Amino acid sequence: MPSELKTNAEPPLRIGNRVLPSRYFLSPLAGYTHLAFRRAVRELGGLGLATTDLVQATLLLSQTRKSMELIATTPDDRPLSIQIYSGLEDELVRAARWLEEHGYEGIDINMGCPMAKINGQGGGARLMCDVDRAARMVAAVVAAVRLPVTVKMRLGWDERSITAPELARMCERVGVAAVTVHARTRQQGFRGRAHWQGIRAVVEAVETIPVVGNGDVRTVEDAFRMRQETGCAAVAIGRGAILDPWIFRKIQQAEQGHRPTEPSATEQIDFLVRHFRLMTEQHGAYSCVLFRKYAAWYGARLGIPEDLEARLRRLESIAQFDTIVEEIRRRHGQRRSAVPTALMKLPNGPTDRR
Ligand SMILES: Cc1cc2nc3c(=O)[nH]c(=O)nc-3n(C[C@H](O)[C@H](O)[C@H](O)COP(=O)(O)O)c2cc1C
Repeated sequence: MPSELKTNAEPPLRIGNRVLPSRYFLSPLAGYTHLAFRRAVRELGGLGLATTDLVQATLLLSQTRKSMELIATTPDDRPLSIQIYSGLEDELVRAARWLEEHGYEGIDINMGCPMAKINGQGGGARLMCDVDRAARMVAAVVAAVRLPVTVKMRLGWDERSITAPELARMCERVGVAAVTVHARTRQQGFRGRAHWQGIRAVVEAVETIPVVGNGDVRTVEDAFRMRQETGCAAVAIGRGAILDPWIFRKIQQAEQGHRPTEPSATEQIDFLVRHFRLMTEQHGAYSCVLFRKYAAWYGARLGIPEDLEARLRRLESIAQFDTIVEEIRRRHGQRRSAVPTALMKLPNGPTDRR
């Protein structure tokens, strides 16, 4: 049995009043970790907590169609936190109250997004530049709701300004229930390596709140190693879960002392179908358009013959989807499957206007 396999059951993790079924979370990836994907992954097992894509507080308060789509959920999509952002305290507070009044169970404040348009409004990672102001905003949100409030941050703005330990400590003092640390600076965007020692620095800076480590976890071994090396209480997995939606199930198997199993070809095709069906529950026939961006990913992952992948990329109707899936099942094995690595469009970061 590989040394990474764990057999000792840990006590469940608590975040505020929530007791989470596992310590391995889905990190939000705007445009990917939508409701259908979250539900499909939860059905595979092992997922502890998911968070919605970031939602701008003002748009939430105006209940725009897009923001309502982003916070759409179903009873099986639990535990779930809603991630909000704003550069304005009052907006964050009102959005948090709105979420509480509408029955949501957890609020996550984004202080990690590197996109210029979000930082330009004072939100996302920009908040890490002024930790006093950021902590005041968080304090106001915590005071306004009874729900657990968490914060997702980066290590800091750039390598000369590593503010995460100080900010996390201040967040803890004002009553934040947990912090997630993406172990890159804003300057790094999504490039370069995640510096896990930055997560350790945050773990050492806080007194008792759980620190959720995040960045570059792609395998079961990575997840356990992040916990060992940083002492973090939980791990959030983003791109690794798109590349391998079974990663949470595999971690759970390893924690129970079993060797993690790879999904069979049938299970993988069933996942593709389930993902699409759950999407149609929310978006109807428009799912055909939404699903196109997954074609290349599923194509590589499942070894879908190129002509079928091309048809998925131009998917037009639900009936056509059914025909393509029949073909995929029939012709599986004609193309070698590969782990797709560069198929996800990364959000803009420091390369664009500040
Ligand atoms: C396409 C994409 C969209 C993202 N959207 C969000 C988001 O809405 N909110 C957030 O806090 N982080 C977002 N992130 C950051 C991820 O949650 C995560 O912190 C980062 O990708 C590092 O973790 P990973 O290596 O496990 O992917 C996004 C990342 C990517 C690549």
